[in-house]
Amino acid sequence: MKKTKAIILISGNGTNLSNIIENIKSGFIKMDIFMVISNNSKAKGLNIAENHNIASMIIDTNESFDYVLSDIVDKNNIDLLILAGFMKILPKIITDKYDGKIINIHPSLLPKHKGLDTHKKVIKAKDKFHGASVHYVTSELDGGPIIIQGKYKVDQYDEEIIKKNIHMIEYQILPIAIKWFVENNIVKLGNKFSFNGEILECPIEHILKN
Ligand code: GAR
Repeated sequence: MKKTKAIILISGNGTNLSNIIENIKSGFIKMDIFMVISNNSKAKGLNIAENHNIASMIIDTNESFDYVLSDIVDKNNIDLLILAGFMKILPKIITDKYDGKIINIHPSLLPKHKGLDTHKKVIKAKDKFHGASVHYVTSELDGGPIIIQGKYKVDQYDEEIIKKNIHMIEYQILPIAIKWFVENNIVKLGNKFSFNGEILECPIEHILKN
């Protein structure tokens, strides 16, 4: 069977990227990272790619982004685009063209708190629970079918602590979603998705490991 070829898009520290690489190395995910793409030349995640001999590229999202990205995807038979801390909205032309092949990790329990500053929103709303979601990317911001979520009971309304807790959840759920994609367990079907052939009406809830 052909090994899945992925591009990972980042904008910042790339700790999720690093975690994906570790999960590939351990054999949990059988996938090749073809390239890491950043819209930010100062993204620390670019050093992570370099340290692991993964090709990387900086793309200016203002100019011909859709053309450059789809050229790379098409010429190299890329199977999966993973947004791992990518802070730009993908153009509709890209989300439509690669429908079902783009997943994103989002730091909230979607559909709650779409967009930016999710931890601040949780603090302001004094939410009892917070978490992270992996979802298929569509032209609706953070609105595609949610594949998997992990949640925890918020006990400290401190942004740094929340950020750390959410990252711990993300490091568990993103590799699982990628593994399911790579092993063809999940398939996007319109605004739903199927798991091993069964259409699911709601996201899969991940039970957190300590
Ligand atoms: C992650 O928490 C991810 O969920 C979030 O950015 C962080 C990136 O961390 N993504 C978004 O907010 C997308 N809207 P990392 O660079 O250390 O992986």
